[in-house]
Amino acid sequence: MPTVFVLNGPNLNLLGKRQPEIYGHETLADVEASCIAKGEDLGLTIRFHQSNHEGEIVETIHRARDEAAAIAINPAAYTHTSVAIMDALLAFEGPIIEVHLSNVHRREEFRSHSWVSKAATGVICGLGSQGYLLALDAIARILAPKSV
Ligand code: DQA
Repeated sequence: MPTVFVLNGPNLNLLGKRQPEIYGHETLADVEASCIAKGEDLGLTIRFHQSNHEGEIVETIHRARDEAAAIAINPAAYTHTSVAIMDALLAFEGPIIEVHLSNVHRREEFRSHSWVSKAATGVICGLGSQGYLLALDAIARILAPKSV
């Protein structure tokens, strides 16, 4: 089964407690459980990570070069600031889906710019945690021609 890294950036460990009117009431553990269940349906092994540290996210993306067929990433605030995460993703050869729980384009102006989008195959935002599951659907479809 292809492995998919599902990566989460800073403050997403507080999901469910942090601004629930924007990010919802589900916890990151709930999102992880949904991703693992969805992965089982789609024939994908899910490796779920969260870090508040930019360098750790960069190193996890480097590991993905050897260990993952695809990446789904919610880089959180690093979306808008991190050339380092963009560069790490540009060195990854498989599909990359960028996910945001909120519709970043309806919010403050600075959230409309994403460095990560420059490395992403596709972007999903504004659909809450469902966005992670849609990202896994997209990844399964993109990988499918190679696995048959
Ligand atoms: C976010 C949007 C970012 O602007 C913000 O910094 C986050 C979460 C989202 O999932 O909507 O931490 O990536």
